[in-house]
Amino acid sequence: MNIVVGVTGGIAAYKSVQLVRLLVKAGHDVTVVPTDDALRFVGLPTWEALSHNPVTTSVHDDVARVRHVALGQGADLVVVAPATANTIAKMAAGIADNLLGTTLLATEAPVLIAPAMHAEMWRHPATTANIGTLRDRGVHIVGPAVGELAGGDSGPGRMVEPEEIAEAALALLTPRDLDGVRIAVSAGGTREPLDPVRYLGNRSSGRQGVALAAEAAARGAVVTLVAANISADVLAEARHPSIAVVPVGTAAELADAMADAAVDAQAVVMAAAVADYRPAVVSDRKLTKEGGGVPAIELVETPDIVAGLVSRRRDGQVIVGFAAETPQSEEELVERARRKQQRKGVDLLVVNEVGWERGFESAGNAVHILGDGGEVVATAEGTKREVATAVLDAIVEALAPLRRR
Ligand code: PMT
Repeated sequence: MNIVVGVTGGIAAYKSVQLVRLLVKAGHDVTVVPTDDALRFVGLPTWEALSHNPVTTSVHDDVARVRHVALGQGADLVVVAPATANTIAKMAAGIADNLLGTTLLATEAPVLIAPAMHAEMWRHPATTANIGTLRDRGVHIVGPAVGELAGGDSGPGRMVEPEEIAEAALALLTPRDLDGVRIAVSAGGTREPLDPVRYLGNRSSGRQGVALAAEAAARGAVVTLVAANISADVLAEARHPSIAVVPVGTAAELADAMADAAVDAQAVVMAAAVADYRPAVVSDRKLTKEGGGVPAIELVETPDIVAGLVSRRRDGQVIVGFAAETPQSEEELVERARRKQQRKGVDLLVVNEVGWERGFESAGNAVHILGDGGEVVATAEGTKREVATAVLDAIVEALAPLRRR
């Protein structure tokens, strides 16, 4: 999506460097529109290098493409951070004496501002009135925070951290089409113990399942994330008031946790990589070489968790399975997925090709999504969050007729 980031002349401009990085990292096309005063704090090359887009402050540049209004017309979101008392006043009055001003007047996109100023300026009746005017017009306001200010004094007026602004910005771009919908998601890889120190496992990092949980929560869902052996840094993406994390280790624990979570869920997503087999015997003591010879490990099959969830499916529930395949062609990939879908009985099947360097652990993914007749209803390729968006779009579509009943 196209995001315009307006930067005005306050010391907090240095924090917007991180804001631009976060928005670009989230996959958005970001154009920075600084005011002349903002460039006294952070230079133009920094904004161009980080946004990968040309930057100007003038309404007289790029006139052929009517840049002074085109930026606002083409924006999906405009963020002003920091927003000084001066720019807030101009916004309230509709003054357009620079490129940011014309952009703000020309846009019909949501606008988010992050005020930053001294406490006295924030408390001034003029600023209070201007903020009230902007709120009434539907402008979204994040902050300011209370804390130490540039002059060493403290009080309300500090710009909130770039992570918080990015979160508020991304929330404004996200549809709330899963408001109140309960979703159970499994993620990560199970570990089946051989003895107190060893296990049979797989390389799933949990990234894909965590991205699904985070995207679902951003769209308004209430999520239970059953997390099998996921590291803290990957799980950090799932920090959201609407996500409850249930940590599990083995396939049996994951089966129990998903059975509980599915009871009142409208959608169930099995993105976890579950062991198909586990050691028949788990030694209480560490297996050693002392007995001599190479040990033979007898395996027994684990229950098919998703097939069990399908057999207990409640009315109106959509169940999504994943398939991790190592095919030799795209036809084989889709054919194998079709057979897996029929075997498991899921409503949607998301198939990804996996290998030494794809699917598992990587930051990106590429999937085909099969509908309940085995037809490919969507494909997606990109970050795991982008793939999650496509999977949730398919879930929203599958839920629509069931929610109307
Ligand atoms: O975690 P990442 O590093 O981000 O990697 C993501 C991923 C590649 C693990 C993920 O996108 C994925 O493909 N998850 C499913 C992996 C898997 O176990 O696929 P499968 O083809 O073996 O199983 C098919 C389906 O049956 C899956 O929904 C699986 O959860 C389920 N299953 C499998 C075995 C079992 N005993 N019970 C199950 O329910």
